[in-house]
Amino acid sequence: MPRVPGDRSEVFRAPVGMHDVLPPESRAWRDLVAAFADRAERYGYELVVTPIVEHREVFERVGEATDVVRKEMYDFTDKGDRALSLRPEGTAPVVRAFVQHRPTVPWKVWYVAPNFRYERPQKGRYRQHWQVGVEVLGPADPDLDVEVISLAHGFVRDLGITKVRVLLNSMGDAGSRAPYAAALRDYFLGHAEALGDEFRERVETNPIRVLDAKREDWQDVIERAPQLTEHLSATEQEHFEVVQRGLDALGIAHELAPRLVRGLDYYTSTTFELAGDALDAAQNALGGGGRYDGLAEEMGGPPTAGIGFGLGIERLLIAAAAEPGGTAAPSRRVGLDAFVVDHLGGLEAAIVLHELRESGLRADRAYGGRSLKAQMKAANRSGAPYAIVLGPEEVARGEVSVRDLETAKQVPVPREQLVGWLQLRLAPPGAAE
Ligand code: HAM
Repeated sequence: MPRVPGDRSEVFRAPVGMHDVLPPESRAWRDLVAAFADRAERYGYELVVTPIVEHREVFERVGEATDVVRKEMYDFTDKGDRALSLRPEGTAPVVRAFVQHRPTVPWKVWYVAPNFRYERPQKGRYRQHWQVGVEVLGPADPDLDVEVISLAHGFVRDLGITKVRVLLNSMGDAGSRAPYAAALRDYFLGHAEALGDEFRERVETNPIRVLDAKREDWQDVIERAPQLTEHLSATEQEHFEVVQRGLDALGIAHELAPRLVRGLDYYTSTTFELAGDALDAAQNALGGGGRYDGLAEEMGGPPTAGIGFGLGIERLLIAAAAEPGGTAAPSRRVGLDAFVVDHLGGLEAAIVLHELRESGLRADRAYGGRSLKAQMKAANRSGAPYAIVLGPEEVARGEVSVRDLETAKQVPVPREQLVGWLQLRLAPPGAAE
């Protein structure tokens, strides 16, 4: 039975764990996405957009044994009786699109998209969160792992986040993981007596995931557990070393994290997380990713290597706001260039605004026949550096008055020179050289 909210005050609120993003906070959000697009495109990635829902099986492939898929998915049946799910993460839809359309490889794409997980909401953990991310289908080359990690790392630094650690691990391939899982199971079961039924149960379901368990009383045993990186095949070991050398060459500090277990099942070989310090340990991952070399084939495509990452927008903004130079404190002048104040009844204001906007300037006005005083107040509040005042005398002389809203100095400017006059003064320093 669907849960029916008890009263209207609950109905007309965003669902629990989901948030509206309103101005002015939305500007940091928008700047973040623009900065990500810019960086990803510099590395040769293009935008991909996939549906917000997929057939449930698309996600079952990525984590039958994970909480994300088993417990947290938003599933529903559509009117045609199809079992669909809201996307809990961004990789499976992109790989599904790759398998469906078979673009030429390497296929390098970036995305910005909401994801849905029915989690217990807390700061940095929501039921709808947004990610920016990239995926590359095609090459298994370790140089690509370095590129992908350096893109994520560089972007986080673009946001002014300095407190970030790159954690690196290798999950091996199916060949090295199965014997490792068996060795780990034996080791853990040797300690299960002391650690209780829940421990035993988790070891039986997925011993590798136990490495990631947060229970204090289990930590001693977990810390002494055999490590996957000791069980890698020679090829996997070589791949992992090339990645580490590549990161060193780019000056990207990284820590080996042999117990880093990502929350999705598709990972093979290199995995990584960017850990921030602004949030509690349970939510400190700003983003993460890695290789998933078997996923395309599992979805019915040709055997194709893959790698990518997703970064949580909400967590990035929390981390940026916690640093003095972070972008959540806007790093550039934002908002309008000019605000038109009009004594003449609107038509002239509409024409001037049209001209300003057509020439690329950001301009606005007050509406509803407000008094001159109210319009000047609105101009001051708008954040625009200039008010363009249209009075009868100015217009009769073929001029407008431009008021510098910081100094309150007003100068006449010939009407036909207005756009050029503003552009000159609004250009960033040095732009005319
Ligand atoms: P993930 O680690 O599940 O990986 O999520 C990536 C990031 O999304 C997390 O590090 C975190 O910043 C953010 N995130 C996840 N869940 C939540 C939540 N409930 N509330 C707020 N933020 C959250 C993936 O989703 C993979 N698709 C990443 C990937 C791409 N791997 C390869 N390619």
